[in-house]
Amino acid sequence: MKKLWGGRFEQKTDALVEALGESVSFDARLAPWDIRGSIAHARMLGEQGIIPKGDVKKIISGLKKIAKQIEAGDFEYSTELEDIHMNIESALTDAIGDAGKRLHTGRSRNDQIATDVRMWARDQIDIIIELLGAIQLSLVEFSEKHVDVILPGCTHLQHAQPVLLAHQMLAYVEMFARDAQRFAELRKRVNIMPLGSAAMAGTTYPIDRAMVAKELDFDSVSVNSMDAVSDRDYLIEFCSNASMVMMHLSRFSEELILWSTQEYNYIVIGDAFTTGSSIMPQKKNPDVAELVRGKVGRVYGDLTAMLTLMKGLPMTYNRDLQEDKEPVFDASDTVQLCLAVVAKMIPTIKVNAEAMLDATQEGFLEATDLADYLTAKGMPFRESHEVVGNMVLHCTKNKLRFADLNLEAFQSFSTLFEKDIHAVLSPQNIVKERNTIGGTSPKRVRAALKKAQKRLT
Ligand code: ARG
Repeated sequence: MKKLWGGRFEQKTDALVEALGESVSFDARLAPWDIRGSIAHARMLGEQGIIPKGDVKKIISGLKKIAKQIEAGDFEYSTELEDIHMNIESALTDAIGDAGKRLHTGRSRNDQIATDVRMWARDQIDIIIELLGAIQLSLVEFSEKHVDVILPGCTHLQHAQPVLLAHQMLAYVEMFARDAQRFAELRKRVNIMPLGSAAMAGTTYPIDRAMVAKELDFDSVSVNSMDAVSDRDYLIEFCSNASMVMMHLSRFSEELILWSTQEYNYIVIGDAFTTGSSIMPQKKNPDVAELVRGKVGRVYGDLTAMLTLMKGLPMTYNRDLQEDKEPVFDASDTVQLCLAVVAKMIPTIKVNAEAMLDATQEGFLEATDLADYLTAKGMPFRESHEVVGNMVLHCTKNKLRFADLNLEAFQSFSTLFEKDIHAVLSPQNIVKERNTIGGTSPKRVRAALKKAQKRLT
């Protein structure tokens, strides 16, 4: 196969160099964006009188044919032609002759790849933002279905205070909403067109960059050609945002894994989202949640690869930059798959509301409310804390719960306790009393659910 850059070479490229240097095995997925960019570039070259309009027609119809061939799976990629750009350009020239050789006028693969990847990233961002919306909606609908369910809220994985299950789920909605915001902000930085920077210094041809940018739906054109061909910080951000999503998915997964243990018995994940064991017939394992938790590692790895790749690269384009694709593609694929799977798994989760409520009876979750009760009657909070601490000690030693103490027992710790004290202790009451902004009271949570539902639909 004839190299498109072969003019100054006397010897054939070593086979090992071809194995090292080819990228078409992974950048072939950029074909639709590459072709779209080339069509816009050719049209502009024609409009500006840089190449004949007749050639532009041939180029465009040739490229469209290649796009169809690729879509149908009948395009033959050659690693000798290195990358997707040269594969397409070479096929174009084979098909239409000299007109094909005019396409690359005023353009370099350096601004071409930078443009392709930005268009690709922009589309992936749109998909990811949609998936983030879908998982939030899935969590909101799940919360609405279980809006009265109470479980122990934890700190340090120790029972802390009762909360609504919906409140805990809405915490994840907040996380995914911020993730979507991060991607939306990144999209603005991505949607700037490098094409027209050529190799690195701009071009001598009277190109019309604004025209191309408009056709390709870019918001603006890059203002420094050297930055435009060598910058990949938006891909680092992409991997960083993807890492954040994965971290949130992993925290959620960890919770589902714990909750479906025999020890917790809070939830049962649907059969379609669990798997069995090849030896133990009784097993139903939360593999989906575990795989999602596990895949965080690869996306963090992708981010680390990108950060390391860029470190120390001198101006401007260096071939190292070809190594940006696999990590970024992997991060994008992984985050999309994981978001889709988890969003689909959520509605299959059966909640054991009784087990959750029963669990609120262990671990003195009412302690803060007892202290608040005394404080409301005039005792300074630090003193109330001490009194209730003594009660916890007493109950622990005697294997009692607060609810087991009668009024007399309560009063032996403080005479401020009165006969309304037992009503204070119910988990429903404790939850209801936390009616501050952002608190877990049913009133606040219902309002938060409504607001989230409205935002998402
Ligand atoms: N395949 C290359 C990449 O991904 C395209 C740009 C190649 N440019 C060059 N001057 N070798 O970065």
